[in-house]
Amino acid sequence: MAKIITIIGARPQFVKAATISRLLENHPTLEEVVIHTGQHYDDNMSEIFFRQLKMGKPKYELSLGGGNHGAMTGRMLEKIEEIMLKEQPDITLIYGDTNSTLAGALAASKLHIPVVHVEAGLRSFNKKMPEELNRILADHVSALLLCPTSTAINNLKNEGINKGVFHIGDVMFDATKFASQIDDETSIIKTLGIEDKDYAVCTLHRAENTDDQERFTSLLSFLRNQAKTQEIIFPVHPRTKKLLKGREAELTNIRLIEPIGYFAMQKLMSQSKLILTDSGGLQKEAYFHGKPCITLRDETEWVETINSGWNRLWTQDEYITPRSTITEYGNGNAAELTIQQMESYLSNKFRH
Ligand code: UD1
Repeated sequence: MAKIITIIGARPQFVKAATISRLLENHPTLEEVVIHTGQHYDDNMSEIFFRQLKMGKPKYELSLGGGNHGAMTGRMLEKIEEIMLKEQPDITLIYGDTNSTLAGALAASKLHIPVVHVEAGLRSFNKKMPEELNRILADHVSALLLCPTSTAINNLKNEGINKGVFHIGDVMFDATKFASQIDDETSIIKTLGIEDKDYAVCTLHRAENTDDQERFTSLLSFLRNQAKTQEIIFPVHPRTKKLLKGREAELTNIRLIEPIGYFAMQKLMSQSKLILTDSGGLQKEAYFHGKPCITLRDETEWVETINSGWNRLWTQDEYITPRSTITEYGNGNAAELTIQQMESYLSNKFRH
């Protein structure tokens, strides 16, 4: 049995990791040990995702979230290293671009444990974003770089990374397919009373948007303008909640709600007219549900959503082209391909 240590900590990672963990549960030759760093800890930011996505309870549940980036990442690094020394894994599996991703990548690579990065090669080319730094650093210490798109493969090539790079598609597409088979028990649409209404869905939480008062105010004014056409349903991330306090009067026709579970979010998007977001995941989920998206950022890593006419930046007035199909994200088997790549990597490793 080969042992994989999976590091997760933030909401989008629970969604991505669940697609692979479900397949690893009864795997004959791979055993998975999960570390949850606790970067996200509220029930509706963490626990509900494990429950809904049928992901087992992590063996290690840490409480290392909060504080500045350096302090948070440092705490994670120390604790993850300690666990790795005890568990002696054969490989480490990391996802995306959060501080938990970086801590996992650093802890493992310093111990010479090969790192497998799911969602490798994405670049926004904006090094002011903590996520961009996390991605670049994680990719440069990874042994197996599993890319969702061919643009990601090219980005890695441009940084001199050619070995261990594979295009596997997007595990978030696997997750959306999984959700589409399940009926949302509580029906968020009914709860919100929007059965026959045109509405848009908004999320906003990136540090680049929330840490700059002036920028945040411009974004709110952009949203206010959008809300003249249709109501905006806005599940508010804890970081953003703090900033919106006292500004409710500015938000006519924008309904603030608590963060919601994965199935409710998929349902909400599937019935909407438009998605407004600064999240990476939602830009693609908009496409998976056949909805147009406006990205509340000045650039995006998911360039194919723009090039296919489904997405535009809030700084662009129009979609740049008529809508077309994106083939890059695969057909919902990215999790299977990830496992195949890990198996083949491990069998080569043990042979040498
Ligand atoms: C992190 C990721 C970002 C990802 C996002 C998904 C980094 C650098 N950023 O940003 O890439 O898109 O997760 O949501 O890793 N908080 C709570 N309850 C929670 C979680 C967080 O109150 O359950 C608070 C934290 O204490 C902190 C703030 O929200 O004050 C922000 O959390 P943090 O983990 O710093 O980053 P995110 O903005 O969530």
